[in-house]
Amino acid sequence: MEKIVTIKLKPINSSNWEECANLNVSADQMSALPSNLFSIAELNFYPQTKAVAILNTKDKIIGFATYGTPENEKVSKIFRLMIDEKHQGKGYGRAALTEIAKELFFKNNSDEIQVCYDPNRSSLKNFYGSIGFKEKELLPCKRRREGKMLAVLSCDDFHFE
Ligand SMILES: CC(C)(COP(=O)(O)OP(=O)(O)OC[C@H]1O[C@@H](n2cnc3c(N)ncnc32)[C@H](O)[C@@H]1OP(=O)(O)O)[C@@H](O)C(=O)NCCC(=O)NCCS
Repeated sequence: MEKIVTIKLKPINSSNWEECANLNVSADQMSALPSNLFSIAELNFYPQTKAVAILNTKDKIIGFATYGTPENEKVSKIFRLMIDEKHQGKGYGRAALTEIAKELFFKNNSDEIQVCYDPNRSSLKNFYGSIGFKEKELLPCKRRREGKMLAVLSCDDFHFE
């Protein structure tokens, strides 16, 4: 039987942002996203973006994510999602992705969630595909010559326990 993994999403605040900034991905994953410190700095300029710490059942911060729904829009975006390298491969990433998608569909009333990632990382296709994301098209990207893959999740395709 599949183990149920529970996580909590907690908005970042003055007491947890430094811990989020100190989380790390592995060396070969660093090109996937900027540092959490950069993502936290960016929040100053995108007030509709929500940033959360991802906590395990012992209330330890094990990951970080940013996402949001622009005002009066039905399409939400997940900008960043990371699990600290020491805690990867334990189901936390998918549990966090599922909670974020539930919030965007059922609280923000989105029709669709979009995410972009490095097209060379087949593990990300599997990871996002595991809750129903479908790859749509390659988009131009400032940081990567081969572009970024846009994957889309509609509420009808979303599967979760
Ligand atoms: C992507 C990421 C968030 C996944 O978190 P995680 O906690 O390790 O993932 P989970 O343990 O929930 O795994 C969920 C599924 O994805 C697969 N998966 C996750 N990361 C994988 C990897 N690096 N390689 C191969 N498969 C992977 C797992 O095998 C699992 O599938 P399974 O249930 O069929 O075994 C994490 O690897 C990470 O932080 N990566 C660096 C940042 C990044 O690339 N973010 C996404 C783009 S912004």
